[in-house]
Amino acid sequence: MNQDLVIAIDGPSASGKGTVAQLVAERLGFAYLDSGALYRLTALAALQQGVAWTDEVAVAQVATELDVAFVGERILLASADVALAIRAEEIGSGASQVAALPMVRAALLQRQREFLTAQGLVADGRDMGSVVFPSAKLKVFLSASAQVRAERRYKQLIGRGEEADLALITADLQSRDDRDRQRAVAPLAQSADAFLLETSNMNVETAVAQILDWWQLKR
Ligand code: CDP
Ligand code: CDP
Repeated sequence: MNQDLVIAIDGPSASGKGTVAQLVAERLGFAYLDSGALYRLTALAALQQGVAWTDEVAVAQVATELDVAFVGERILLASADVALAIRAEEIGSGASQVAALPMVRAALLQRQREFLTAQGLVADGRDMGSVVFPSAKLKVFLSASAQVRAERRYKQLIGRGEEADLALITADLQSRDDRDRQRAVAPLAQSADAFLLETSNMNVETAVAQILDWWQLKR
């Protein structure tokens, strides 16, 4: 698979991957893959089907059979819009549990690669540059301090009119990051060939502009 038109953006939770990746995709006219959504959808579908997040064989089956469609802002699971439901912290935690299971990662691999179109792709997640698109032309590792990330998530939830508790969010991000960094398969880590973008003191526009600059240099 030719990955000359792939930009892989990895990083920990609430580092800004989704926001930044979508804007970069829009500016370049590329497709966009939110790979975390696929793990979240798997966790939600398992919950709906009464499958335990620890049952590797059964969860991998759920992942293989996911009936999902991304339609603009909507994310349809068996025709029901679950775009908001999958953002719940409980589902985020479930996503990181099922994401540690090798059979589940294998089940979602090809599905992720199918997002690559002739126009190009911006993909965000934890292993976009290391596993899913190892030959991506540009790889970026987005980071920000744990405190800044927790505050970003807090503001995001409050902005959506949801209840939020900064201490709980901080603890949840910490345990999810630890699990994502320590797992045996596709752990969260900056690949040697990825550009580091530290955004603790950087707004979205500046981060987008930096990635677009790197992209111009790569072409
Ligand atoms: O996808 P990920 O969990 O990495 O993060 P996100 O959902 O894109 O970003 C979390 C929140 O941080 C969003 O509300 C972004 O607008 C905000 N953000 C920010 O304030 N400054 C940045 N440099 C990046 C993101
Ligand atoms: O938005 P946020 O960064 O909090 O999470 P996400 O990108 O939606 O991913 C949810 C969970 O899925 C993460 O905590 C990871 O455990 C897992 N994930 C993964 O293992 N590999 C990916 N490429 C994307 C997500």
